[in-house]
Amino acid sequence: SVPQSRLRSAFRRLGPVGKFLDEMLERWVGVGDAQRLKIPQAKGSIGAVGGQAFFIPLYELFITYGGIFRLTFGPKSFLIVSDPEIAKRILRDNAQDYSKGILAEILEFVMGKGLIPADYDVWKVRRKAIVPALHQKYVAKMIGLFGKASYGLCEKLDKAASDGEDSEMESLFSRMTLDVIGKAVFNYNFDSLTHDNGIIEAVYTVLREAEMRSTSLIPTWEIPIWKDISPRQKKASQALKLVNDTLDDLIAICKRMVEQEELQFHEEYMNEQDPSILHFLLASGDDVSSKQLRDDLMTLLIAGHETSAAVLTWTFYLLSKNPHVMSKLQDEVDSVLGDRLPTIEDMKKLKYTTRVINESLRLYPQPPVLIRRSLDDDILGGFPIKRGEDIFISVWNLHRSPKHWTDPDCFNPERWPLDGPNPNEINQNFSYLPFGGGQRKCVGDMFATFETVVATAMLVRRFNFQMALGAPPVEMTTGATIHTTEGLLMTVTRRPQPPIIPKLETRTQIVNGDETVTLQE
Ligand code: HEM
Repeated sequence: SVPQSRLRSAFRRLGPVGKFLDEMLERWVGVGDAQRLKIPQAKGSIGAVGGQAFFIPLYELFITYGGIFRLTFGPKSFLIVSDPEIAKRILRDNAQDYSKGILAEILEFVMGKGLIPADYDVWKVRRKAIVPALHQKYVAKMIGLFGKASYGLCEKLDKAASDGEDSEMESLFSRMTLDVIGKAVFNYNFDSLTHDNGIIEAVYTVLREAEMRSTSLIPTWEIPIWKDISPRQKKASQALKLVNDTLDDLIAICKRMVEQEELQFHEEYMNEQDPSILHFLLASGDDVSSKQLRDDLMTLLIAGHETSAAVLTWTFYLLSKNPHVMSKLQDEVDSVLGDRLPTIEDMKKLKYTTRVINESLRLYPQPPVLIRRSLDDDILGGFPIKRGEDIFISVWNLHRSPKHWTDPDCFNPERWPLDGPNPNEINQNFSYLPFGGGQRKCVGDMFATFETVVATAMLVRRFNFQMALGAPPVEMTTGATIHTTEGLLMTVTRRPQPPIIPKLETRTQIVNGDETVTLQE
């Protein structure tokens, strides 16, 4: 039935003649078995979903209705996918027949035609321009930036430890990753860990607006008069203007730098003073409008900021609940790093730290749901679906499916052998999708993995983390990523200074009177 559906969708693209051929084919082959099947229909109500993170009730429905079902709210209907084979078809094997749908509509106001919401034609050109900017030499250089930002956070925590104050880790991680992504994408120092200013507040206002729109049931921002008089809308538009103007200024400054420099552009081009993605794009002669470039920078800023912050938040929450994992992690970090900053070589050696991040991303995928819309009829899991279906691929369900994981809710980094490959969507056959899959897979996967590994390693080396006494319960709420409802309040205490690893040296020893043996320490 799949080749038949391909043939039919190819016909339909041919206009009236194709439509005729399509109808003839349908009459000729008759209605196949798949055409007679109907997708299971879950009985949903807004009341069941409202009030809690919306992906939670979807898990119960998945257990009841299976890997694909339809959820209807009044006139709106969604297909919920929690099956790896169906996810693979949508994201990889038939990706050209799916767009970002609702997500693109909601994010348009802030990301325009940036890489995340872009439709196929724009996306193809921009992806080809942007991916080369994240080359190996760039990512290696970023390790230094991650170390510096994490060190800044350590200093802040050190002060809190001295003053006997608890630390709200979620907002600290959000600030740290904002500092990182600003430097990495357009060489801008937000310095948000130590400062508060208009631009930082504007970035957060824009982010909150985008998140509110993506979870809101009624699009108030589209109501003609309301959108002009609502104080929240006004604040969001002003904030967006400030961020856009700042980006335009940064583009202009960077253009002048590139015009003055004599460096020859090549594959692993990087300006040591300004290794940012923006600098690479301008130096590459990327032929793009300023608006498109700004959309891309904004997209990278948003994509790389709260995702990494959320991963760190949930990793530290999980570590506080699993002290045995924490002490194993600290042992690895002490022995690999001793008393110095991480380097790119350490990334291969911090194996358990990487497994902790892999496992944290399994339990708390960021974002928990991927959004698509079918651009053509297709067959998913044996069920025919029509063009124009809105689809949620629940990565949360895939990552916690009892069909694929033993003890799915258990935080167990040991499930990934240290000497095995790093888990990804290919070697886990689409049961594990921390960075998506197929052509729209995350461009920052390595960047983000190293960033979170460096930050985790540096923090656990210097401190112990416990939930603060009387801390509010840690519950989930959804935005673009999974947030806590009331923050992650932790008591951070200094560890005794980790031992400095002695250099490998040789020593001569006398054994049995006259025999000499060389030992390594
Ligand atoms: C796309 C996750 C960090 C840039 C994605 C997607 C996921 C994801 C799941 C696929 C979305 C979809 O298919 O609808 C994450 C996680 C991160 C992270 C969990 C942190 C741990 C970053 C960073 C950057 C970045 C640091 C930039 C430096 C992007 C871009 C896309 C994307 C541009 C869109 C790619 C395209 O459509 O071609 N990310 N991401 N991400 N990510 Fe990330």
